[in-house]
Formats: sequence, structure tokens, C-alpha cells
Amino acid sequence: MTAKVIDGKAFAAEVRAKVASHVTRLKEENGITPGLAVVLVGEDPASQVYVRSKGKQTVEVGMNSYEHKLDASTSEADLLALIDRLNKDVTVHGILVQLPLPKHLDSDLVINAIDPAKDVDGFHISNVGLLGTGQKSMVPCTPLGCLMMLRDHHGSLAGMDAVVLGRSNIVGKPMAQLLLGDSCTVTIAHSRTKDLADVCRRADIVVAAVGRPEMVPGDWIKPGATVIDVGINRIERDGKTVLVGDVDYASAAAVAGAITPVPGGVGPMTIACLLANTLTACCRANGLAEPEGLTA
Ligand code: GUN
Repeated sequence: MTAKVIDGKAFAAEVRAKVASHVTRLKEENGITPGLAVVLVGEDPASQVYVRSKGKQTVEVGMNSYEHKLDASTSEADLLALIDRLNKDVTVHGILVQLPLPKHLDSDLVINAIDPAKDVDGFHISNVGLLGTGQKSMVPCTPLGCLMMLRDHHGSLAGMDAVVLGRSNIVGKPMAQLLLGDSCTVTIAHSRTKDLADVCRRADIVVAAVGRPEMVPGDWIKPGATVIDVGINRIERDGKTVLVGDVDYASAAAVAGAITPVPGGVGPMTIACLLANTLTACCRANGLAEPEGLTA
């Protein structure tokens, strides 16, 4: 079998188009423009690239983008004061503090200072608890993107066996909660899991989010299974730097039913879902109906 390639780039463009059309309606019918504030502390080059990309795509879907670039030596008090201002600003519907923060800043404290209703990353402890108890929350962007792709490919996920590789707060744990919410039987596997290959081989859905280049070979995949590869790893191959996922794409694509490539799979969905979350937050803040198909 050769797997169907799930085109995340094309799907993300569809999500952005849906968001843009809702934004147009919000402006015309309600006189509201959703606004996303992104806070970057310091000059981490990868973070600068992400933040630029987020700002550009925010404007492209018709939203207001507010970028706050702070010096690497910014004090916790000053950062918390900025977050307090953004929490109170009615033109700001989403707040994202780019991670990682410089070491002298307590990320948990900073994230939990964001108004949970504006926490478009879904990292605030309130949103984590709401998701864990099956209540309406803001859902972390990368797992939300994975869920959208899985629903698009399968329709219902009910009764499927899903294995999530990785237990991070940003991807693994919320991904498992979302799959459980869609009535999958969910296993969270990690570096200490026994018989990892056998655990994987039982899965109808494998979500790999471990950050280890090409760790999952094709012979860990059940024939016909769906493979969602969250990994984005830079490695040297034949004297060149290349991007690879957590899955060995060539061997996995030979047995899977469907697979996301790297690049062009999960990656583009993350920012698309950030825009979807900002729109959702804006609708909720204004007591308006939420867009369909853009939330969990
Ligand atoms: N740094 C890397 N990924 C993310 C993300 O999804 N959200 C935030 N805030 N920072 C990140």
C-alpha cells in the first residue's frame, strides 16, 4: 500500500480562508475586528521567525496584529504589567507569549497571568483543566490542527485505537484528551514505555510528537493506519541541512493508509489554528455564535 499524503499546507490554506470569511462577516455585520497580540521576549532567531510569520498571517486573514517585542533582560514585573494591559484591552481577543522565555522568567507564572478567555495557545491551567474535563476551552493549536486533519480524513474517529507518542504539555497530553473526546481508545506512550513497537503496531492512528528524528520506522505501523507526524527536526544529510519528522517517512508511507509529510503536514496547521482560536475567542467575547469546524 502507498499512503495517501495528507496535505497540511493545502488544508491550512482552507482553514485560513474560512477564518478570513468569518472575519469579513464580523467586520461587516458587527463592526468588530479580531485582534491578536504576540509577545516576544529576547532575540531567539527561531522565535523571531515564528512571530513574524504569525503577524503576517494574522493580517492576511483581516485581523489586527499587535507585536510586543521586549528586551531579553525585561523583568517579570514589566512582562506581567504588559499582560495585564492586554487582558484589559477590548481590542485584543487573543494573547500569545512566545516560548521559550529567557531563563530568569517563570513561564508558568507568565502563562497563567493571561486571561484564560484570551489564551489562544490553550496553555493556561484553566484551559488545561477545562479540556481535561471535556468542557469548552481554548485548545492548543498543534493538537487542534492534528484533530482537524484526522476528522477530515476519517469523519468519525469513534472506536479507533490511537497511540500518542510523547507526553508534552503542548502536544502529547492535549492530543490524547482531544482523541479521547472523539471517542478513541487512547494510549500515551513515551521514552519509558515497554514494547513501544508493539504498542504502535496496534494503533489505527499514530501521532508522533517526540522530537527525535525518524524514530518511528515503517514496521511499527499497522498496515492502513493513519500517521500524523508532529516532529520538525533539522538534521545533516549528504552535507545538507534537511527537515525530517519523528517518523521515517519513506518506510512508513509504504504501509500506512494516510500520512502527513514533513515539511507540509502538521506545521502549517499550527498557525492556521492560532488564527481560528483568535476568531473563536473574539466570537465568545462578544457573545456571538462560534465558527463551525474551527474548534474541538
Ligand atoms: N514556541 C514554540 N511553539 C510554540 C507555541 O505553540 N506557542 C508559543 N506560545 N510558543 C511556542
